[in-house]
Amino acid sequence: MIGICGISGIGKTTIAKAIYNRLYAHFDVCSFCENVKEVIEKHGMIQLQKQVIEDITKEDLKVSSVGEGSNVLKRIMISKKVLLIIDEADELDYLEALAGSHSWFGPGSLIEDEAMELFSLYAFKQKQLKEEFKGLSDQVVRYMKGHPLALKVLGCFLFGKSLSEWKSELSRLGRIPIDDVQVLISHYSLNKKRNPA
Ligand SMILES: Nc1ncnc2c1ncn2[C@@H]1O[C@H](COP(=O)(O)OP(=O)(O)OP(=O)(O)O)[C@@H](O)[C@H]1O
Ligand SMILES: [Mg+2]
Repeated sequence: MIGICGISGIGKTTIAKAIYNRLYAHFDVCSFCENVKEVIEKHGMIQLQKQVIEDITKEDLKVSSVGEGSNVLKRIMISKKVLLIIDEADELDYLEALAGSHSWFGPGSLIEDEAMELFSLYAFKQKQLKEEFKGLSDQVVRYMKGHPLALKVLGCFLFGKSLSEWKSELSRLGRIPIDDVQVLISHYSLNKKRNPA
């Protein structure tokens, strides 16, 4: 059991989808539970359990309580090689109801070279950095700690701007707390709408 944890927009769902696409052929049955939180809030845990059971067994079994749903799932999981991905499992209850009590979470990691390439795709509309912007781009990627959504948003914002505009924006960037990456993302999304490149 592998847990992927991290702040919003860091790429958890993207990683889970990539893992799913790479691995599904090696399993007997697979289930990718998307938007778990939303499904549970709208339709309840039993409905989600039924959905997973149906993915795995291709049968629409009757489930009348969460406990019963867990028991059915436990029984099926034992007899098959199952790849089960639970996205947005924000509450321990969700995991307990869908995947028993084994739960441990490991940190994800980011690859700096790929972060640079991603930033470059948005800031220059090409994979390679523009030579004169290299130092400043390094600064951005390091400052953003490779956060993909922040890199995309800031890349779009900086696209087409001059070296001096980059410099003044980066000195302003230093004053926005990186701890709250959501603030930073909405700041640049908002500025892009007001001032499209
Ligand atoms: N490695 C990557 N390369 C390029 N783009 C990426 C990468 N990882 C994530 N993204 C992009 O960043 C955005 C956020 O990713 P994603 O939805 O996977 O984040 P999340 O961690 O699941 O967020 P949340 O907690 O809000 O569900 C998406 O637009 C996604 O396409
Ligand atoms: Mg997600």
